[in-house]
Amino acid sequence: MSGEKGGIEIHRGLKGVYFDRSPTCFIDGRAGELRYRGYSIHDLARHSTFEETACLLLEGELPDAAGIENFRARLRAARELPGAIYDIIRSIAHAHPMEVLRTAVSALGAFDPEGADNSREATCRKGVRLAAQVPMIVAAHDNIRKGRKPVPARPDLGHAANFLHMLKGEAPSEDAARLMDVDMLLHAEHGSNASSFAARVVTGTEANLHASLTAAVAALSGPAHGGAAENVMRMAQEVAEPANAAAYVKAKRRRREPIMGFGHRVYRAEDPRARHMREGVERLSREMGQPHWFDILQALVDAMAPYARHGIHVNVDFYAGVVYYLNGISEDLFVPIFAIGRVPGWTVQVLEQLDQNILIRPLTHYTGPAPRDYVPIDRR
Ligand code: SDX
Repeated sequence: MSGEKGGIEIHRGLKGVYFDRSPTCFIDGRAGELRYRGYSIHDLARHSTFEETACLLLEGELPDAAGIENFRARLRAARELPGAIYDIIRSIAHAHPMEVLRTAVSALGAFDPEGADNSREATCRKGVRLAAQVPMIVAAHDNIRKGRKPVPARPDLGHAANFLHMLKGEAPSEDAARLMDVDMLLHAEHGSNASSFAARVVTGTEANLHASLTAAVAALSGPAHGGAAENVMRMAQEVAEPANAAAYVKAKRRRREPIMGFGHRVYRAEDPRARHMREGVERLSREMGQPHWFDILQALVDAMAPYARHGIHVNVDFYAGVVYYLNGISEDLFVPIFAIGRVPGWTVQVLEQLDQNILIRPLTHYTGPAPRDYVPIDRR
C-alpha cells in the first residue's frame, strides 16, 4: 500500500483489500486455516469426496445419501460434449491444454441450452454441466493430440476415477483414484483468488457463466497462479538429486526468481492443503519405486526453511505435480487438473456475485502529464 497526495491509498494487486462478503470460504492466512462452509479442509480431505464437497459448495450443506446420489447422477448425465467441440479441439490440438480448455469452455457457451440465462438456478445447472464437461475436454484433447480416439466416460466411475479412465483408457487403481479425488477437492475453492476474481469481474458486467469461466481459465493459466504445479515438476527434474537442492535454491534466489510451489498471497503459515498431497507423494513415490522424487521435494523444503520466517512456505501446488507425474500424466496437464477441481469454486463465486450483483470497477490514481493544449502535427 502506498500513500499519495490528497490521502489517496493505492493497494497494488489489491493486497489485503476486502471487496465483498462471502459465506463460502474461510481462510486464516496467519494460522494456515481453510474451511468450506465451516467445514475444515482437513476433515473434508480425510472423509469427503470431490462430488460431496462440490455439492456442499454449490448447495451450502453436506448432502444426505439421496442428495449425493442425485448430484452424482447430474454429473454423469452431463458427461458429453457437442460434436463441434471435438472438431474445435482437433483444430487446435497442437496448442497447450490450457489454451484448448479456455477455447472449448468459451465455445460450449454457444451450445448450452441455457447459455444466455443468467438466473441463479440456470447458472447453477450450467456450473454442474461444466464440472462434468471440463474433464471431458482435457481428456479428449490429450487423446486426440496423441493420435488416439477420445475415451467415452464410464457411468460406473466417480468423477476423479472417470477422468483418469478417460485420460489413460483404463480404470485407475483405488489408491490413484482416491488421491486424485482428494487433489480435486483440495483445489475446489479458495475465495477470491485471481481466477475466481476474474470470474466475478466478468459476472459483475452481467455476462453469462461461460464468459466468466472462460476468464477464470485464462487467469489460471498464468504461472503465478495455476501454472506452478507444472513448474514444480520441471524444478524437481532440474534438481535431479536431493543433494543439489540447496545450491539450486541459492542460484534461483540470487537471480531473484521465485521457487515454484512456495509462497502465497494470503498464507503466511503452510498452506493447509499441502500436507494432504505430501502424504500422497510419500506413499505413491515409495509404492512406485521412485522415492527420490519425495526426497528431492523435501530437500527443497529444507533449503527454503530460512524463508519460512518471512511467511514463505509450500503451497497447494508444491506436491501436486509429483502426484500427477507418478500417475503418468503429462506435465502440461497439471494446470488443467487444477481447473477441473476449481469449477465448483468458480461457479459458487459467480453465484455469490449474482446474488447481489454490482459492477466491479476500482480506480487508478492519475500520475501522468499536467493539462496541456493540443499541438497540430505540422508544429510538433
Ligand atoms: C495458487 O490466491 C490463491 O488462493 C491461489 C491458490 C488457489 O487455490 O487459488 O492458492 C493457488 O495460486 C498457489 C500459488 C501458486 N504459485 C506459485 O507457487 C508460484 C510461486 N509463488 C510466487 O510467485 C508468489 O508466492 C505468489 C505469486 C504466489 C504470491 O506472491 P505475492 O503475494 O504477490 O508476494 P510477492 O511476490 O510480493 O512476494 C513477497 C516476498 C518477495 O520478497 P521481496 O522481493 O519483497 O524481498 O516474498 C518473496 C518475494 O521475493 N517470495 C518468494 C516466493 N514467493 C514470494 N521468494 C521465493 N520463492 C517464492 N515462491
